[in-house]
Amino acid sequence: MGIFYTEEKRLFHLQTVEASYVFQVMPTGHLTHLYYGKKLRHGDLSWLQVRQERSSFSPNPVPEDRTISFDTLPQEYPVYGTSDFRNPALQLKQENGSTVTEFLYTGHSIVRGKPQLEGLPQTYIEQEDEADTLIIQLEDAVAGIKLELSYTAYNHYNAITRSARITNTGAATSEILRALSSSVDFPHADYEWLQLSGAWVREREMIRKPLTVGTQSVESRRGSSSHQQNPFAALLTPGATEVSGEVFGFSLVYSGSFVAAAEVDQFKTTRLSLGINPFEFGWQLTPGESFQTPEVVMVYSDQGLGGMSRSYHALYRERLARGKFRDQQRPILVNNWEATYFNFNADKIESIAAAGKELGIELFVLDDGWFGHRDSDNSSLGDWVVDKKKLPDGLDNLVKRVTDTGMQFGLWFEPEMISPDSELYKAHPDWCLHVPDRRRTEGRQQLVLDMSRKDVQDEIVRMITDILSSAPITYVKWDMNRNMTEIGSAQLPAERQKETAHRYMLGLYDVMERITSQFPDILFESCSGGGGRFDPGMLYYMPQTWTSDNTDAVSRLRIQYGTSLVYPVSAMASHISAVPNHQVERTTSLETRGNVAMSGNFGYELDLTKFTDEEKSVVAAQVELYKEIRELVQFGVFYRLLSPFEGNETAWMFVSPDGVDVAVFYFRVLAEPNAPLARLKLTGLDPDRDYALVNGDGVYSGDALMYAGISVGSKKGDFHSELHRFKRV
Ligand code: DGJ
Repeated sequence: MGIFYTEEKRLFHLQTVEASYVFQVMPTGHLTHLYYGKKLRHGDLSWLQVRQERSSFSPNPVPEDRTISFDTLPQEYPVYGTSDFRNPALQLKQENGSTVTEFLYTGHSIVRGKPQLEGLPQTYIEQEDEADTLIIQLEDAVAGIKLELSYTAYNHYNAITRSARITNTGAATSEILRALSSSVDFPHADYEWLQLSGAWVREREMIRKPLTVGTQSVESRRGSSSHQQNPFAALLTPGATEVSGEVFGFSLVYSGSFVAAAEVDQFKTTRLSLGINPFEFGWQLTPGESFQTPEVVMVYSDQGLGGMSRSYHALYRERLARGKFRDQQRPILVNNWEATYFNFNADKIESIAAAGKELGIELFVLDDGWFGHRDSDNSSLGDWVVDKKKLPDGLDNLVKRVTDTGMQFGLWFEPEMISPDSELYKAHPDWCLHVPDRRRTEGRQQLVLDMSRKDVQDEIVRMITDILSSAPITYVKWDMNRNMTEIGSAQLPAERQKETAHRYMLGLYDVMERITSQFPDILFESCSGGGGRFDPGMLYYMPQTWTSDNTDAVSRLRIQYGTSLVYPVSAMASHISAVPNHQVERTTSLETRGNVAMSGNFGYELDLTKFTDEEKSVVAAQVELYKEIRELVQFGVFYRLLSPFEGNETAWMFVSPDGVDVAVFYFRVLAEPNAPLARLKLTGLDPDRDYALVNGDGVYSGDALMYAGISVGSKKGDFHSELHRFKRV
């Protein structure tokens, strides 16, 4: 494993656990891509470069060699203007107005470990021998621009990461119009494209379709990764399943506007590119300055979607998430949002916390409405001082009352926002994103703070630090409830306005870095109206995310299943809420709501004081059960068994890393009359070992559990669910 360089052929071969990635320097000095797929032995792979004159309409940079055309040869990091007509990865506008560039290889280095990207979220290493990094240097001498392409091959995680760095070594400013993080040319188009798309309260639906000539893409123009699209795409061999077929996953470690595209060209080759959305993006690169793209994480699996997901889960759980909670069991919480919305006082809060404590819950979270004069969602964002009308004895007193019950205390913020009805807005009307002389379009009656500004960043850090230092707060929910409009910054000159959205992200990342490192004992959960920013960028700063504002058990099956395609279960917060459900008005049993919510970081989002004694005893049992399986759920290996996108049933299971503990969840949405007797085949077990049913009788062989399956769904009724636990004997 590692990175091989064959000097004679100027060929690079990156190997990770299951994959190889190969490219070569052509005689012209350009880079051509040769192979990405199942791991190869290292040897002479230069024959993978096939050069042919394929079309008289394919121009030739070297007139006498008609086999070289960038129109026909696979590229490693393509540019436009010198015979490649496909999607470029990079476009720079130079002083003379030209956007033509041509980058030639000037050298490379191979280093142990993984150099850090400045100011951006990224996967990391803990020991130098965990990864090797190849840095390719290229140059466009005419434009005076240097380009560095970085590739890290992990040795124990099945992933290769990529990013690009552009440096202006010339005397004039260049404008970056497009700087994608990765581009990979596949030799054919016999693939299906998979994307995670949705909407608010319907996030990350799995959508698959065959590739066809032209461009298939998903993108966000919202200033955040968004509910509508996720910064991820995959190519699958046709018919690939959970357990079979080849899958190429591409995941962008970024939380802003992005584009993922697959372009199928005239020769039916496929170019898969991913990075910051060039739409409304621009960057003035002054002499001496560098621009660093975010990182893309590429995962290859020949064991279907399940194989790809488990590679992402392991890497993102262990080498993207950081801090003490990365490896620590997450607390079971009760949050007051759906219990009270804005209508609460200290007594009410204390009563919910006390009820939670009695049932074994560990953390109480005070959601929106505790600051300024926020009795509805139309005011006070930016005024992070306690509302003395609602909480006359102050926040510290409320925290004391809650912690005196034996519960920990968590608090909600929406730090990136400003309400026009706020003291902050009166003092700093130019602190929001806006364009002079134009309306400031409100969303939820709020505006977006201009996080590209240092003064705004510092003030947010100051306000949040003050509150977090004022009381023993152990959890923060960091919310963000609208997308960006009129994206402009009062502090940037006209020619830099298109930098605003990316500068916002860099500013946000800086603020989150400062706050999370200042409070290492606080568990931070990100949120954006639920899953509007469920992306790897946020996971770097905050190890978990509020998966969706939709807590309906049936809806959540699809949301959590889709999310699990890329993101580990330890990143997904999932709570039981009241019925009829507030988002879809469906009534499901407490048991089924519990089984869905216990498949993630568990909690409650309702008024526990309103529960009957019988319901309370169910809750107490759920909490006790979750404590038993928490380590398994949050840190076990996750297998999807039945997909809610394909039918009436959903199933998934967890196996502890040592293979001893097993938990299987089965869900059936609608009861079917006289349906066939259902069997659920398990996976991830040792066929040669036996497994005893936990809380029941019976010992079953691993092979029978996997190849014959357990019987499920014998009970009648809609919205039915089951949990089966086993222990290896
Ligand atoms: C959106 C979040 O997703 C909800 O959980 C809640 O915190 C509200 N915002 C509060 O305004």
